[in-house]
Amino acid sequence: MDHTNYVIDNMISAKSIAARVEALAADISAEFKDTDKLVVIGLLRGSFVFIADLVRELDLPVEVDFLETSSYGESMESSREVRILKDIRGEIEGRDILVVEDIVDTGHTLHHVINLLSSRKPKRMSVCVLLDKPSRREVAVDVNFTGFEIEDKFVVGYGIDYAQRNRNLDHIGAVRFTGEAAQ
Ligand code: IMP
Ligand code: MG
Repeated sequence: MDHTNYVIDNMISAKSIAARVEALAADISAEFKDTDKLVVIGLLRGSFVFIADLVRELDLPVEVDFLETSSYGESMESSREVRILKDIRGEIEGRDILVVEDIVDTGHTLHHVINLLSSRKPKRMSVCVLLDKPSRREVAVDVNFTGFEIEDKFVVGYGIDYAQRNRNLDHIGAVRFTGEAAQ
């Protein structure tokens, strides 16, 4: 794999993320306080850290499921064509669901996923994203809970990758290329 070297500039600290996740979970718990069970659906792979932290802060009976869509691959650009690589395991008709995504960028991924899941007739559906890049939007998506709005930078960490790297950073950082050749 041939990558140009890059450095990661700190953007959102682990502490700020934890505080924001706690606040989001309180809002979600209030919104769904009357639910018999909330099906929390994480979009793989980028949301795995976020969903793990979020569900532990939810004061509700929850079920956890996962959906995987095709990703950017090695690229930093959205392919715009979204395919489902792995569907959820459970039935969601008549259920309360919360879709959890790492980043809403152009909006194509969430637009596709929301259309697919709403065609299965859940009782209530909400969408929660950790990061929103509003300046990049190409299709409108209805997001109910947003962690942070960020500018148009390519970010990594807290589950989010660049070419499968840096998912294990405990905070969120922005990728900055140094122009030197990769080792
Ligand atoms: P969209 O379909 O353009 O909204 O793209 C959403 C998906 O692109 C997210 O689920 C992320 O996996 C990925 N993505 C968008 N921006 C970034 C980024 O800055 N770093 C890593 N992945 C990103
Ligand atoms: Mg993704």
